[in-house]
Amino acid sequence: MRKKIIAGNWKMNKDLEEGMGLVSEISNMLRDEYQGSAEVVIIPPFLHVNAVSKLIADNPRLKSGAQNCSNHKSGAYTGEISAGMIKSCAATYVIIGHSERRQYFGEHNQWLAQKIDAVLEAGLTPIYCCGETLEERESNTHFAVLEKQISEGLFHLSPEQMMKTVVAYEPVWAIGTGKTASTAQAQEIHAFIRGLIAAKYDASTASEITIQYGGSVKADNAAELFSAPDIDGALVGGAALQSRSFVDIVKAMA
Ligand code: 13P
Repeated sequence: MRKKIIAGNWKMNKDLEEGMGLVSEISNMLRDEYQGSAEVVIIPPFLHVNAVSKLIADNPRLKSGAQNCSNHKSGAYTGEISAGMIKSCAATYVIIGHSERRQYFGEHNQWLAQKIDAVLEAGLTPIYCCGETLEERESNTHFAVLEKQISEGLFHLSPEQMMKTVVAYEPVWAIGTGKTASTAQAQEIHAFIRGLIAAKYDASTASEITIQYGGSVKADNAAELFSAPDIDGALVGGAALQSRSFVDIVKAMA
């Protein structure tokens, strides 16, 4: 059975004190209110990862992660953070290839493939993001775009490495816009991605891989999205910045 994962990507929000307050609230609320099966991941800015990891250490349901990492292990790369450093802060997940990294920081598939390797080598779990722009969807090129992102970013991996990777489908037109993909639209793409993995590896590998949906997930649309057979959780942005809305999304996952 593949894992269900709800992750909150804080992006560049919350100072340390605000972040600690939010994590404490989430941890307490989950203890009191949630008996379901999902793993819940807090993904704050780099600077808070260590403190978040310490704060959640007594709550086995909660894990921490980082929003990016270097493709290098160490060296003269001013401003960069390695996967090993993230691991040393007791985090277990790293988002790779978020559309904001692709769009604003020029990260391309070949570079992201190296980052995936760095994350796996450190023994961490990559959450590899893919997704098409509105223009790509409207011109009906989204399947080709997704196939390129998935194959160039991931298909150099061994089957064992692929099994350790989480994929997040985040249509760019749904991120921070309040416009969610319909459950049918998301399910269609998730099944397409799983099919690509099955064709490259095999059906049992594909069936083990968690594929999250991201893009304006809220408490009131989460349950419907999670009812789709290939949607295994969510990568949440805006709604992860508030304990009540984030925990309600988690509670939508049985
Ligand atoms: P929103 O939930 O704010 O649309 O952000 C989604 C996202 O980019 C998560 O990584």
